[in-house]
Formats: sequence, C-alpha cells, structure tokens
Amino acid sequence: MLKDRIDAGLLQRFEAGLDPLNPHLSKISAKIIGYGEMSTIFVINHPEQENIAYKRMPIFRSPDEMETYEHLFEEYNTGLRNIGINVPESASARVIPDKGNSVIYNAQERLPSASIGNALIQKLDENSVRLLFLCVLRELKKVFTSNRARPSLPFGIDGQISNWAMKDYQEGKPVTEETELFYIDTGTPLIRKDGIEQLNPELFLRSTPSFLVWLIRLLFLEEVMTRYYDFRKVTIDLIANFYKEQRPDFIPMLIETANRFFAGEEAQSGIAPVTQKEIVSYYKEDATIWRVYLAFRKIDRYLHLKILGKPYVYILPEKIKR
Ligand SMILES: Nc1ncnc2c1ncn2[C@@H]1O[C@H](COP(=O)(O)OP(=O)(O)OP(=O)(O)O)[C@@H](O)[C@H]1O
Ligand SMILES: [Mg+2]
Repeated sequence: MLKDRIDAGLLQRFEAGLDPLNPHLSKISAKIIGYGEMSTIFVINHPEQENIAYKRMPIFRSPDEMETYEHLFEEYNTGLRNIGINVPESASARVIPDKGNSVIYNAQERLPSASIGNALIQKLDENSVRLLFLCVLRELKKVFTSNRARPSLPFGIDGQISNWAMKDYQEGKPVTEETELFYIDTGTPLIRKDGIEQLNPELFLRSTPSFLVWLIRLLFLEEVMTRYYDFRKVTIDLIANFYKEQRPDFIPMLIETANRFFAGEEAQSGIAPVTQKEIVSYYKEDATIWRVYLAFRKIDRYLHLKILGKPYVYILPEKIKR
C-alpha cells in the first residue's frame, strides 16, 4: 500500500527544510517532475521514496479544511475508478509547519516520465497521436455519460494531454485503440452535489497575490471551474493545449478526430463541431490569463521577500513556454 510507504516524519523534515525559491537546494533534496498552474510535483531523493510522486499544496488554514479536502480527494479517486477510469494508487498526508498555511502532500504512484501524454506526443507519429487522442476522448466519455445518468452528482475533469499516461508503458510500445490510460490529475477533485461545487474554490485563491484575488476570482472561478463539466469545452481545452505543448501541427487532425467522434460514437449528446477559429481564440485567451497570473505571482514574491521582508511559501516555475 502506498499509504504505508509515506514517511510522515520525512515529509515534516522535508517541509521544514524546503527552500521554495531553490527547491533543489532544500535540506532534503528533491527533484521537481512537474509544474501545474497551482502546485508543484516532486520526488524526494530518499531511499524508498523514489517511486512516489508528491504534489505539494500549502494552502490550508484549518484542520476542517484539510479534512474536507482529503475526503473529496478520496471520493474523486474512487468515483473515477468506479466508472472505469484508471487512476494511480494515491494517498495524502498532512504537514503542519510552525507558522503559515498547513500543507497537504498528495502522494501518487510515480509513473515513467516518458509515459505521460505531453512526453508521448513529442515522439509519436501523427496516427499514433490520433489513436492516443481517441483513447482520451473515450475516457472522457465515461465521465460525461456517468454525469448524464446521475445529474445530481457530476464530476468535472481536466482532459489536458499532460494529465494522461500510458499504462504499462515500455519504450516503443505502439498506441492502439486498446491502449489503456491512467488519469493522474486527481488533485483538484471537482464534484458537484445538487449543483454545489464541493471543492471550496477559495482554497485555490490562497496562492494568488492578494492584489489579484478579485481578478482571479472573476476569471478562474467563473470560467475555469465550470469548463470541466462540459464535454465540448474540455475537448477544446485539450486540443488548444497542443499549442502550449509546442505541437500545433497536430491540431487540424485533432479537430477532425474530435468532430468525427462527436458525430459518431458521441452523437447522442448532440455536441456541435469544434472549429479551428475557436481553438485559436481560446488558446490566446487562456495563455494570456496564465502568463499574466504567473507574472503577478512573481511580483508578489518580490514584494514579500524584498520589500515586506516576509517569507514566500510557494514554488513558482521559471518561464513556461507557451
Ligand atoms: N504520478 C505521477 N508520476 C509521474 N509524473 C507525474 C505524476 N503526477 C504528476 N506528474 C507530473 O506532473 C505534472 C503535473 O501533475 P498534475 O497534472 O497532477 O498536476 P497539475 O497540473 O498541477 O494539476 P492542477 O492544474 O489541477 O493543479 C504531470 O503532467 C506529470 O508530468
Ligand atoms: Mg495537470
């Protein structure tokens, strides 16, 4: 069990010795293996920890908040498994530092980095990418079919290619329609009960500079939190993200594949075809949101460290290529 492999004392010491500005210089050394928009994923260089991917969320202000989050995380993972989506084994652990926000570390079985979607699309030929994309659409269909059958308890999902990994991956293994995938981005458990988002969206504003909270609340809460419950929007987001992954050459093929899928296997939901124009304008808007957001976080970090003399607890990516 993954849970038994988490070393709470080690995590406590890790957090205490963490240098968010230079994570590689932390007292207990760690390697960053992924950046999300809101969190950092790393592996702790320590015996028996090398196969665990830790996602650090330093955003909690009370035991109640942590408890609610842990339950949702669990419910989301179980719920996805129940509708037939593979998710890697996971567990979560709390770390309560002497001061500042409490931290939850989500642990997940570490998958080979070459098996993650954004790495795969750099190596595969166009037909293999098409098959991979089709497999992703079929996984997404499971979620949206279940949501239709159970409208009082829909799940949201972020379909971006970096959130999927090839199961039982080996170098050179071909992609086919039978390829099985893992969904790895379970750290943002989006579940609505009777129309109410269970994840307190304010949690995700905690890492936002105070002078920007109003803006992100406007953009993030309205737009981002709802897009994940709509099959068409999730697909647009997934396709547009190929710009960020530096593979816009695949986009025409992806649009065609999605539209054929919506008109065929998914015809019952009557989804309108996706257009190239929509993808382009969506991408421009989304990239701007996150670029501006990151730039302001860096200003906020500067204010904390250099002007206010306060600690800054978040780890920020360097420049993200978009
Ligand atoms: N279990 C894992 N094994 C290997 N790599 C992982 C694992 N989990 C995450 N990663 C790497 O980290 C990246 C980001 O992870 P993930 O999608 O879970 O977080 P995120 O995008 O920050 O989520 P959110 O946007 O919801 O905050 C992944 O694309 C992947 O490259
Ligand atoms: Mg992700």
